[in-house]
Amino acid sequence: MVVSFSSESRQVESCRLVNSFFNVAENEAIDQFLREGYIIFDLEDSSLLNAIRKNIYQSAVELLGDRTQLDEEDFFDKTHEIISIKDLNDFRVKSIARMNQDKSLRPSIYALGKKYIDWLVGNELAMQRNCNLSVQFPKDDSSLLPLHSDVWSGNSPYEVVFWLPFVNCYRTKSMFILPRHESEAVFRNFKQYSHLTSEDFYLKIQEKLVWLEVKYGQGVIFSHSLLHGNRINNEPDTRWTMNVRFKSLLSPYGTKELGESFLPITMRPATRIGYNYIKPEC
Ligand SMILES: [Fe+2]
Repeated sequence: MVVSFSSESRQVESCRLVNSFFNVAENEAIDQFLREGYIIFDLEDSSLLNAIRKNIYQSAVELLGDRTQLDEEDFFDKTHEIISIKDLNDFRVKSIARMNQDKSLRPSIYALGKKYIDWLVGNELAMQRNCNLSVQFPKDDSSLLPLHSDVWSGNSPYEVVFWLPFVNCYRTKSMFILPRHESEAVFRNFKQYSHLTSEDFYLKIQEKLVWLEVKYGQGVIFSHSLLHGNRINNEPDTRWTMNVRFKSLLSPYGTKELGESFLPITMRPATRIGYNYIKPEC
């Protein structure tokens, strides 16, 4: 069923949406995001992605010294061979701190996903102040994210996560998400689930979860309001991903506020003038 954009909002949400103000590709991306709550896409500039990964590798070489016996091609998939699980979090936290000192990182990350971020979120944006790294070794249960919605911990439902892998991600070496229609069905009937343990909750909806298959060179944008998480990585290689949140600058904020967790990145001049409007005093 196709409806026009002006139809009653609940009806629009559940049906295919065609808006003649958007081009064909934009409408397709919007339609998929509204339906599934996520989209996987090819990044716009592979040389920029390679440069970001090289910087992270060089930082790791400096942190690890003699322990870095792997070249860049193997380092990310095989990190578990040279760092112990005990040292992993310290290494990850130091890598994040060093990575975020690079002022070109956030503009580069935005450039990689700009087309889809603008289509799905808007062109006046706030971006999280810091980018985050997740490193998950095979068989490691120390850094798991059980089934959750980020809104439950205070994030705004207007935010999206840009999820960027530095290795090929598949099966348990990736993350899972419960597509939008399924997540919303769970939320509508949440009394059925609210008494369950996290593991029983997962088992109850396991068959409806989608494990994202994302290659190096691709990215994901997903609504973190939907149910998602990860499990023990049972594949042979380490998972390396970066994540950072974007939201429309003027949409409602959660506990992560503008000026603290989020910074404006693409405020347009008309909005800037409006923000600074001075009411004449009589
Ligand atoms: Fe999350």
